[in-house]
Amino acid sequence: MTIAIEKTSWQDAEQELREIRTRVFIDEQRVPETLEWDGEDAQSTHFLARSSDGTAVGCIRLMPSGQLSRLSVLEPYRNQGIGSALLATAEEEARVAGMTEVFLHAQTHATSFYESAGFVVNGGIFMEADIPHRQMYKEVAAETH
Ligand SMILES: CC(C)(COP(=O)(O)OP(=O)(O)OC[C@H]1O[C@@H](n2cnc3c(N)ncnc32)[C@H](O)[C@@H]1OP(=O)(O)O)[C@@H](O)C(=O)NCCC(=O)NCCS
Repeated sequence: MTIAIEKTSWQDAEQELREIRTRVFIDEQRVPETLEWDGEDAQSTHFLARSSDGTAVGCIRLMPSGQLSRLSVLEPYRNQGIGSALLATAEEEARVAGMTEVFLHAQTHATSFYESAGFVVNGGIFMEADIPHRQMYKEVAAETH
């Protein structure tokens, strides 16, 4: 399947981002709405993955702090590389913006997914939205010429 990843904003894509995150985090993972809509979206940079028919099938956000969050792919579209592509695109955005490191709170089931992408665990397990998480980070220092 051909997937296109586009950079967007909450202002331009709120409805599509809300739809994906509602299905994945609120409906599937039972994250409370008050935690999902945390007030950090307007100032974050968002990325949407679209299938060839234009359907929005996945997303991620890069926060000004360098935190990557809300990585989600609709269930029928998983295990086709879309999550990895979203992650790589957001990392590249951080690098171009001059950040030297990105970090995230990984659900513990997903730490091996992030390790495959070069992230390293930092510290122990903590709870967020009643789901066990671990902090992970990756250096994305600018290329030297
Ligand atoms: C985690 C998620 C975004 C991955 O998206 P995806 O499009 O399926 O990921 P990819 O197809 O790029 O997967 C890449 C690899 O990670 C593996 N992988 C995917 N999800 C995994 C998981 N939950 N645990 C362990 N490995 C996983 C895949 O098998 C694949 O391995 P391979 O390359 O050796 O075949 C997706 O499963 C999802 O939306 N899950 C629900 C929301 C969630 O948990 N988000 C993460 C919050 S920290």
